[in-house]
Amino acid sequence: MIESRLKAAAERIAREIPTPFYVVDPGGVERDFTAMDKAWREWFPRFTLAYSYKSNPLTAFTRLLCALGATAEVVSGPELETALKDGFPPDRILFDGPVKHAAELTRALALGVGVQIDSAAEVEDVAAAISEGGPRPRVCLRLAIGTDSGEWSRFGLMPDEVPRARRILADAGVRVRGVHLGVGTLVRGPRTYRAAIRLWRETLPELAHDAPEPFVLNIGGGFPPRGDTADPAAPWAEFAAEVAEECGLLGLRPRDVHLVVEPGRSLAEEHGVLVARVAVRKRRAEGPDLLVLDAGTNLARTVKSRSHPIEFVPSDPDDAADAGGTRDPIGAGSAREPYAVYGNNCYEGDVFARVVDGPSSLRPGQLVLVGSVGAYDMPFAHVWVRPRPPVYAPAGTGHVLVREPGRAIR
Ligand SMILES: Cc1ncc(COP(=O)(O)O)c(C=O)c1O
Repeated sequence: MIESRLKAAAERIAREIPTPFYVVDPGGVERDFTAMDKAWREWFPRFTLAYSYKSNPLTAFTRLLCALGATAEVVSGPELETALKDGFPPDRILFDGPVKHAAELTRALALGVGVQIDSAAEVEDVAAAISEGGPRPRVCLRLAIGTDSGEWSRFGLMPDEVPRARRILADAGVRVRGVHLGVGTLVRGPRTYRAAIRLWRETLPELAHDAPEPFVLNIGGGFPPRGDTADPAAPWAEFAAEVAEECGLLGLRPRDVHLVVEPGRSLAEEHGVLVARVAVRKRRAEGPDLLVLDAGTNLARTVKSRSHPIEFVPSDPDDAADAGGTRDPIGAGSAREPYAVYGNNCYEGDVFARVVDGPSSLRPGQLVLVGSVGAYDMPFAHVWVRPRPPVYAPAGTGHVLVREPGRAIR
């Protein structure tokens, strides 16, 4: 379901701006940040929420989160520079990811940015990159976890690599502050995080013993968005309570642990919408009518792997009785029928939805909202055939442009 505030803003902006464009709601991100922060802090008074830049580095989100006290989680040198430009101080930036170039590591360590080491080779790179007289290195080890297929994750160190990593870092004068356990994405409940902690039950107390206080336990991102009413996620309090319980089983008191989470999708996904219009309606002898939008799935690239609510909006108040959508029908009672919804690109697979219920009266010009594009879809979107659409956010009774349109197609 698309949040009513976002929907209202999209409709308002569409009266003035030609489609397609995106609308984001930073207010929704702030609400989710506040709820998440509060729930985790009840169990872990030392708590850091590190926003995953890769999920959407839009300044409307990142600068707001910086002002709210979040930390930035980045996975490349360019992302690191972006976070600095957004105002994050180096001690509120964590540098993650499987590949860090030597110059990036040197810069991160010289600034005092936290580094999550992903591999045995990177342990040596970090030891080599430490400069004398620089800030004390803030280093954690990313530990591999088991995947659903029974194999080890490609990320992080294996158990037999940890002792050597610690030795090399100790020789370089570095005390490992903690660990990072990245469990993947779209994790429905706390069990997966508990399993990752349990997998390392022998190593964690040892590392905690040797770490400078407090021991950092970073459980990464992967949390589901809140608004999926069909398959609701566990509440934050449940995640926090269960992770705290698992820590307790290892002899780690939650109040002595500095817990870090790195949410992306759960903060951003539901707070962005792609606003398009029906460009063409085609009748076929068999099957549902086809709607072709004036936007393509290159602007919402996770349509095949994630649920994206599609809602039809009346083009003016007189049309209200005609409007409706998949999950939030407006004007119930009017005749409805199924549609197949396509994008404007010249290939068969440019499909937003094979079947969506909508008002029978749909015609070209009708506004269509594709929801849940606030994470990954927006940064993944690629320019093809037409320029990149602008991004707007509601502001008072109006709106502001928060990202310029791309002006070129190459
Ligand atoms: C290291 C790390 N942290 C955080 C995230 C954010 O994950 P999500 O958007 O599922 O919360 C990712 C996503 O790939 C990641 O790789």
